Amino acid sequence: MPRTHARKTRHEEPAGFIANAAKSVLVTAGVAALANLGRKVVTQAPTAMASDWCEGLTREHEATLAAIDKLLATSIDHPQRRTVQLAAIKHMIGKHALQEENVIYPMLARESGDAMGALNKEHGQVKAMLFELSRMDKADAGFATTLAQLRTALEEHMREEEDVLFPALRERLSEAENRKLTREMNLAGVMVA
Ligand SMILES: [Fe+2]
Repeated sequence: MPRTHARKTRHEEPAGFIANAAKSVLVTAGVAALANLGRKVVTQAPTAMASDWCEGLTREHEATLAAIDKLLATSIDHPQRRTVQLAAIKHMIGKHALQEENVIYPMLARESGDAMGALNKEHGQVKAMLFELSRMDKADAGFATTLAQLRTALEEHMREEEDVLFPALRERLSEAENRKLTREMNLAGVMVA
């Protein structure tokens, strides 16, 4: 009996270890997924709480400009702080751009046909500027100059969207179509939030 018991224990140990390890991986993955979901909900909440897609995007525009102003006000003596702030701005702009490029611009193109190429090109220019800013020495005096240029380009792009293109699109769509577009935009945003 003792021999059988000893053999059984030896055989069960690896299996038990694997089961425990698998359980621990699953628990960790579950906690990570929940944390991830929590972050996504918090990140997308200001946009999702807006009454419609147009207002949601306007809020994101304002938040992006405010974040850039904060970075512009960060002294050259704090390059690491600048790096962290820039990473947050890149994430904000990336999420915002994806919502527009995957949902809003295709709808604009469907309705008016001509705006999508120019808007996507402007997004490409913004991405190129963010790429340059990421590579720049954050203690370089040129960093703030390039960042200010990015702000000007972004604001011009936002003015065209907020004052002309987006209200015109919202006007053309029915209430149900606008609601559907808002849901689609929020879904695209939460994927990368
Ligand atoms: Fe935008």
